[in-house]
Amino acid sequence: MFIESFKVESPNVKYTNDEIQSLYSYETTELVHENRNGSYHWIIKPKTVKYEFKTDTRVPKLGVLLVGWGGNNGSTLTGGVIANREGISWATKEKANPDDIVFGGWDISDMNLADAMVRAKVFDIDLQKQLRPYMESMVPLPGIYDPDFIAANQGSRATNVIKGTKKEQVEQIMKDIREFKEASKVDKVVVLWTANTERYSNVVVGLNDTTENLLASLEKDEAEISPSTLYALACIFEDVPFINGSPQNTFVPGLIDLAIKRNSLIGGDDFKSGQTKMKSVLIDFLVGAGIKPTSIVSYNHLGNNDGMNLSAPQTFRSKEISKSNVVDDMVSSNGILYEPGEHPDHVIVIKYVPYVGDSKRAMDEYTSEIFMGGKSTIVMHNTCEDSLLAAPIILDLVLLAELSTRIQLKAEGEGKFHSFHPVATILSYLTKAPLVPPGTPVVNALSKQRAMLENILRACVGLAPENNMILEYK
Ligand code: NAI
Repeated sequence: MFIESFKVESPNVKYTNDEIQSLYSYETTELVHENRNGSYHWIIKPKTVKYEFKTDTRVPKLGVLLVGWGGNNGSTLTGGVIANREGISWATKEKANPDDIVFGGWDISDMNLADAMVRAKVFDIDLQKQLRPYMESMVPLPGIYDPDFIAANQGSRATNVIKGTKKEQVEQIMKDIREFKEASKVDKVVVLWTANTERYSNVVVGLNDTTENLLASLEKDEAEISPSTLYALACIFEDVPFINGSPQNTFVPGLIDLAIKRNSLIGGDDFKSGQTKMKSVLIDFLVGAGIKPTSIVSYNHLGNNDGMNLSAPQTFRSKEISKSNVVDDMVSSNGILYEPGEHPDHVIVIKYVPYVGDSKRAMDEYTSEIFMGGKSTIVMHNTCEDSLLAAPIILDLVLLAELSTRIQLKAEGEGKFHSFHPVATILSYLTKAPLVPPGTPVVNALSKQRAMLENILRACVGLAPENNMILEYK
């Protein structure tokens, strides 16, 4: 049965006109170890912290501004939501929210969204024809273009760019956000980067390591501030959530620092759509089962514009980094299988093959050591339309980011309610290289990320975490 709405009846939960308030006992453990005659003895102490949550239940009219709106992901998402809203479905006649989101955005290519959809070659021709009247009038705003940060092969696409100094470009983006909000009559805006992967920017003391240095660099029009960092700065100044769907280090330390100071949500990095999602399930399973992955080799080939951009070494390097770190926490979680510092060989290859278009191929070989020195090899081959995996993830990211700005919490002893930390780890289920606040552990295992998300949402309505014990049948 489809659950359209629900209400929790509990003394710990109160529904007001515009809030759900919950009292929640956070059950956790404290670990301490003692050195007893040269060997470590662990003491585990259960700990309960009382929390209060309150969630604003007024769902705003939401505007989403996409950086790279005219790209494969941007046009696929926009077309997909319109098709759903208008009931234009060639496979199903069903409808679902969120149909009311107003889309907008920037692109360095001035192509309207209908032509961009044709260029992307993702949708069925019949669907494209039906969508054209809705998308023809959607034209991206000029974007911030810096050829030094993306592949040289993107140059011919850059027909729609904001002129001026970096500071002026940031001011233009801030103005665009305000004007979009005004014109589209939305209550809230979320901005998401689904533009080309940029190269990493250099993190240098004095340049971008602190908020003060980053803002001083902006005044000086320093070349090393990337376009994505400029968009993120504009969003923080406008107090609009900014999510990075690509792998580059948009969030340089000075920018993270600024987002924390201004309590403005940032989240990323890099959509977790296919190969990495599978990896964050498989490695968790293998390591947890005592099967020791020793070599992980991941090939990709794709023929869309993303693939062309990634054929340059410096942009490929950004992707290689975000794809590589994903096994680290799972490997280090098992000190029996791996010696300290030991790590499987992990290699990532991405090749541009124009013929396959948006239909990406991902091939993976996992070799593991098993019982008595035996070897187990798993090989996978996945063929999938890349943008059809990414578009729903973009939708989930913006909805979740918006929702998380409506949740407030406080632990016992804390005087005031506060929002979640502005570095939104709640989005990590959907991102390949989860951005976390400085000093916080990164969790990549997909099941743990999902459990975190589910249990936080349960806490908001005063329900205990899903424990899967099923004691009533034991
Ligand atoms: P795409 O190349 O089709 O679209 C990117 C768009 O961004 C282009 O229209 C381009 O003109 C525009 N653009 C480039 N720089 C810009 C700037 N500074 N400001 C405004 N617009 C700019 O690429 P696609 O396939 O849509 O992917 C977008 C991003 O998402 C890529 O970085 C990709 O690596 C990332 N991604 C995609 C996944 C997928 O499954 N499709 C998964 C994970 C990440």
